[in-house]
Amino acid sequence: MHSSPKVTLNNGVLMDALGYGVYKVPAQDCADLVSTALDAGYRSVDTAALYGNEEGVGAAIRAAVATGTPREDLFVTSKVWNDHHGYDATLRAFDESMERLGLDSLDLFLIHWPCPEQGLFIPTYKALETLYGEGRVRAIGVSNFEPEHLRQLLDACDVVPAVNQIELHPWLQQRELRALHAELGIATQAWSPLARGGLLDDPDLAGIAALHGRSVAQIVLRWHIQSGHLVIPKASSAQRISENLRVFDFALSAAQMDTIAAMDRGHRSGSNPTQVN
Ligand SMILES: NC(=O)c1ccc[n+]([C@@H]2O[C@H](COP(=O)([O-])OP(=O)(O)OC[C@H]3O[C@@H](n4cnc5c(N)ncnc54)[C@H](OP(=O)(O)O)[C@@H]3O)[C@@H](O)[C@H]2O)c1
Repeated sequence: MHSSPKVTLNNGVLMDALGYGVYKVPAQDCADLVSTALDAGYRSVDTAALYGNEEGVGAAIRAAVATGTPREDLFVTSKVWNDHHGYDATLRAFDESMERLGLDSLDLFLIHWPCPEQGLFIPTYKALETLYGEGRVRAIGVSNFEPEHLRQLLDACDVVPAVNQIELHPWLQQRELRALHAELGIATQAWSPLARGGLLDDPDLAGIAALHGRSVAQIVLRWHIQSGHLVIPKASSAQRISENLRVFDFALSAAQMDTIAAMDRGHRSGSNPTQVN
């Protein structure tokens, strides 16, 4: 069985560098697929209220614990959705997520989008600080925050986010944001690390993959790992789930990292954070 190395977040909590993301995993399939991922060696799962599958994630986590995996070895992330911004609404959203998950505590809770037009991400984050202070969540952070949102947050709040989960892949390399994360001690987590599968036909990546005897997905995930990103690929078959975790037993050369660095084209496969509200 393969496993991911762990990274230390800015509050000392350990998190797997590579976890399983479940956006667009249908609710009825989610428990089975998360169990498949746990059997393959994954220990970290990324869900959200939006995904409609927290029940399945929770069921698989509880089943793993019931058969001997210590809860503290597992890591569950969820997120507050855009329609629950504001202090009280976010506390309610957390309770609702925990009810659906059926867990006593959460490992990481994120603000899913900053929703700048609502203008509520600061009270939303203050609710996360309350939950963190009460020990109901082991780490808190944000997602899709641009530099100006992070700066506003840090001016008004006490706990530096442990993570900013952003769209990040070879076609969208987010250099300014990653540099700010490094300066502030925020871990960069890549969503749509494979550009939703869009870059899997790229001929340059295919060439590197052939040299290593690996798949293009493995090359891209390895690029993320060597770049210091946390990463949460989604896949729907046992074979792909397992393949995506097998990226810790080979390394890309400096020249191959340079080739991928040159692929940035500012291409988003998802929404622009300044336009989501
Ligand atoms: N915070 C946010 O706003 C946000 C937004 C989007 C996503 N996310 C998180 O990030 C996770 C990953 O992002 P994503 O699901 O959008 O995209 P992704 O992981 O970049 O790509 C998933 C796509 O790639 C395919 N794929 C995966 N592994 C493969 C492999 N080894 N070979 C060939 N194809 C492969 C999958 O196909 P199959 O499913 O058919 O196997 C699926 O179509 C999500 O599940 C979610 O947890 C967060």
